[in-house]
Amino acid sequence: MDPAAPLLLFDSGVGGLSVLAPTRALLPYAPIIYAADNAAFPYGTRSEAEIAARVPALIGRLVERYKPRLAVIACNTASTIALDHVRTALDIPVVGTVPAIKPAAELSKTRVIGVLGTEATVRQPYVDDLAARFAADCLVIRHGSSELVELAEAKFYGAPVSVDAVRAALRPMREAPQGDQIDVIVLACTHFPLLADVIAAAWPGVALVDGGPGIARRIAQLTAGQPWPASPPPGIAVFTAPQRAPPASALVRFGLEEIRAL
Ligand code: DGL
Repeated sequence: MDPAAPLLLFDSGVGGLSVLAPTRALLPYAPIIYAADNAAFPYGTRSEAEIAARVPALIGRLVERYKPRLAVIACNTASTIALDHVRTALDIPVVGTVPAIKPAAELSKTRVIGVLGTEATVRQPYVDDLAARFAADCLVIRHGSSELVELAEAKFYGAPVSVDAVRAALRPMREAPQGDQIDVIVLACTHFPLLADVIAAAWPGVALVDGGPGIARRIAQLTAGQPWPASPPPGIAVFTAPQRAPPASALVRFGLEEIRAL
């Protein structure tokens, strides 16, 4: 294993940074390539066919170019639709990001949990399967919100995001039958941990489950014993639309010091 071989994280936009942060905390010497398909952002309003065609092709190009030791699909939408296709196409380990329904069900006292994702994620059979396996005795209320994805992205770019706007985006979940009994919400979109403080203010008392730290532990487990460089190289952010990349000052906070085009 080449110590310089990076970890590759992939999302439609800045959401995957909520997976990158706990990953860097566990693996501070890991070289990082963070790739965002921001030319096609947002994924959540696209069709299964578009995502299933786009994601494996882009990750394939990134793997050829950067020779990562492991790829992380740091996006629930892309993972619930295209994880199997990507795994079949690559000969490196691929870690997916799928809704953390199991820990949410373990935590819920009311047995009513919310799954907050994109429109595309919440309609996936993958989510039916997770709910049936891990939350069979819970009422699982799903809500897909492209507004929240846009708000998370805007917040990262430096725009103010109001609690009222987030409360309005959460209203369909809260007003669903028994929605007022939800005590745990799965943040089933990697953009949403970036908004967690505002979501918590908009829905006080509810517990928010972020799958990011669990994904980071999985990456650490899969790379255990592998060599890393003696000092961490600057992270590289790769965008499919680099002219619309987020401000460099925001990326630097995640160790991403160089912006490139794919
Ligand atoms: N961050 C992504 C997810 O976890 C998708 C957001 C989007 O592009 O709609 O689902």
